[in-house]
Amino acid sequence: MSGNTFGNLFQLTSFGESHGPAIGGVIDGCPSGIELDMEAIQRDLNRRKPGQSAIVTQRKEPDEVEFFSGIFEGKTTGVPIGFAIFNTNQKSRDYDHIKDQYRPSHADKVYDDKYGVRDYRGGGRSSARETASRVVAGAIAKQFLPDIKFTAYVSAVGEIQMDKSYQELDFKTIEQNPVRCPDPQKAVEMEQYIKQIRKEGDTVGGIISCVIQNVPSGLGEPVFNKLHAELGKAMLSINAVKGFEYGSGFEGSKDRGSNHNDLYNADGTTKTNKSGGIQGGISNGMDIYFKVAFKPVATIMQSQQTINNKGEAVEMTGKGRHDPCVVPRAVPIVEAMAALVLADLTLLNRAVKK
Ligand SMILES: Cc1cc2nc3c(=O)[nH]c(=O)nc-3n(C[C@H](O)[C@H](O)[C@H](O)COP(=O)(O)O)c2cc1C
Repeated sequence: MSGNTFGNLFQLTSFGESHGPAIGGVIDGCPSGIELDMEAIQRDLNRRKPGQSAIVTQRKEPDEVEFFSGIFEGKTTGVPIGFAIFNTNQKSRDYDHIKDQYRPSHADKVYDDKYGVRDYRGGGRSSARETASRVVAGAIAKQFLPDIKFTAYVSAVGEIQMDKSYQELDFKTIEQNPVRCPDPQKAVEMEQYIKQIRKEGDTVGGIISCVIQNVPSGLGEPVFNKLHAELGKAMLSINAVKGFEYGSGFEGSKDRGSNHNDLYNADGTTKTNKSGGIQGGISNGMDIYFKVAFKPVATIMQSQQTINNKGEAVEMTGKGRHDPCVVPRAVPIVEAMAALVLADLTLLNRAVKK
């Protein structure tokens, strides 16, 4: 397996499987001298961890991170930052039934086809448990970029959509409900809907919106490594993500240039921001905003037809502790991946400007 490293200069290499002893990573390229707020790192992990509310998987993991290198007297030293999160609450027997069978729309069959061997316990490396390592690295990337503000929130669960723009929202309300939706009324509807979906043994998808504020202009390399291309790759690398759009996105395709163009103010800012803060692949100093679509995840507590590894038709019913809707837990993952992209492009920018 390759491709376990993300980033060019600010790099995260992640390791580990869902039911192995630990997951973790090595952050390479993080500049020295960053005073780390360890509580802020743990806070982001707590926003991702299982068992945090009645609408997420009831697996109980403390998800406490331990650092082994790269930090001295509270500051990064510039050497690789090694860390691990020990797995404590595995129930591997819950996965015995998928040892020889494939969950429809999960990664079971493609892993078997590709590697010929699969750690089926908890989904192994295909489990979103891996994303806890991204959250640790992203929390450090945020601290490397203290002036930039990363805010993600849930803007849709199934058909329940929030129709307010981010400028109308009070971001302080995001963490005040288990869905992480800053529209309190919609949050209640979403929460009830997720509970109903769980009762039915089903799953539902959703959308996470993200806003990045205070971004300096000039980040992003304008040909293959466009800022929005890097963000797109980062988001699409998150488990269960099916779509990414930034700025005016797919809606913008219906518009005319005469209405869509962002006209300038005298100070170089723009009157509108349909570009989503990025032009020609480079940040222009306006807010960057984008949406990430998550599918209804594969493991449902209903009986389904599938096949086993001999190609025989079998019936399968999901077992174990799963998420009926992953978006509430994926909010800090989206922020983390956005922070990793901006940290990397900030360092790259130092290489291309005198
Ligand atoms: C926070 C989070 C939690 C997830 N929890 C589950 C889960 O409980 N059950 C499940 O089948 N998939 C879950 N997934 C999704 C799977 O990891 C993912 O669907 C699987 O690896 C196949 O990859 P793909 O959907 O990107 O093709 C979760 C994803 C995220 C982001």
